[in-house]
Amino acid sequence: MPPRVFVTRRVPELGLALLRAECELTLWEGETAIPRDVLLRQVALAEGLYCLLTDCVDAELLEAAPRLQVISNMAVGYDNIDVPACTARGIPVGNTPGVLTETTADLAWAIMMAAARRIVEGVDWVRHGCWGTWGPLLLAGVDVYGATLGVIGYGRIGQGMARRARGFEMRVLCSHTSPAEAESIGECVDLDTLLAESDFVSIHTALNEDTYHLINAERLAKMKRTAVLVNAARGPIVDPDALYDALKAGTIFAAALDVTEPEPLPQDHPLLKLPNCIVVPHMGSASIATRTKMAVMAAQNLLAGLRGERLPHCVNLEVYRQNE
Ligand code: DGY
Repeated sequence: MPPRVFVTRRVPELGLALLRAECELTLWEGETAIPRDVLLRQVALAEGLYCLLTDCVDAELLEAAPRLQVISNMAVGYDNIDVPACTARGIPVGNTPGVLTETTADLAWAIMMAAARRIVEGVDWVRHGCWGTWGPLLLAGVDVYGATLGVIGYGRIGQGMARRARGFEMRVLCSHTSPAEAESIGECVDLDTLLAESDFVSIHTALNEDTYHLINAERLAKMKRTAVLVNAARGPIVDPDALYDALKAGTIFAAALDVTEPEPLPQDHPLLKLPNCIVVPHMGSASIATRTKMAVMAAQNLLAGLRGERLPHCVNLEVYRQNE
């Protein structure tokens, strides 16, 4: 009998086709994240779980899923999954590194530029009929070319930002990395130096206990008043209340967020009322080509796990060591 797989949302067809060829597939067809009770019912029968960053895979879910052999997250980040709990049960967890690097760096770069040059305000200005005449100070922003970019978390996407910065003749600082990784383009500095010297601070680190609210009131106060904060990593790395206060008070110039805490941000959230805060809906990897690659990679991880093979991209390799 083919293994039973549960997929928590419709993903690009190429990924689903790979799964259908080898598995009995059940798919949540809803347009929103799957309700928790439905997820818990569905995993009870599944040998494989193909999930998204919006699905919380915790001890309760694992308890409800006695047959589960493998979990595949269609994302590079996996802070939605209790990995130690999966490892304790001998369940390998897959993710999708590499394929989304450039697409996500493109988006981070785009919102950084948009915030620096006040593009959203400009579009609104024209759309609402405010464009009377050319103004010497109208919507004046800050320069990107030749400025200093601080990259927090110099992994694949952070390095992608640094490569883009080279074309803009920027100085690149990085923290939360090893000097060996930073050597190629960036100067490795401590976080306080990065915050004090950067014109743009772009976050690309994983969310974990150490990075939760890493950017808080105290750290925002260390940034330049002309600086722009970019977050295309995970929302909870930035304390939203502290960010609101800093943007409102002019402690920093602007923020550009692809991710927020909470997510989605409610429509009446104070951050959405600030002209110097751009928020887009966690769309860093959202190109058709990249989402297709992610869907395929996640399917390959799941299929490998179901065949009893090592996952090509596994976040808890210790699961294999403990079985050796
Ligand atoms: C990820 O993969 O972790 C991104 O946040 C979504 O592509």
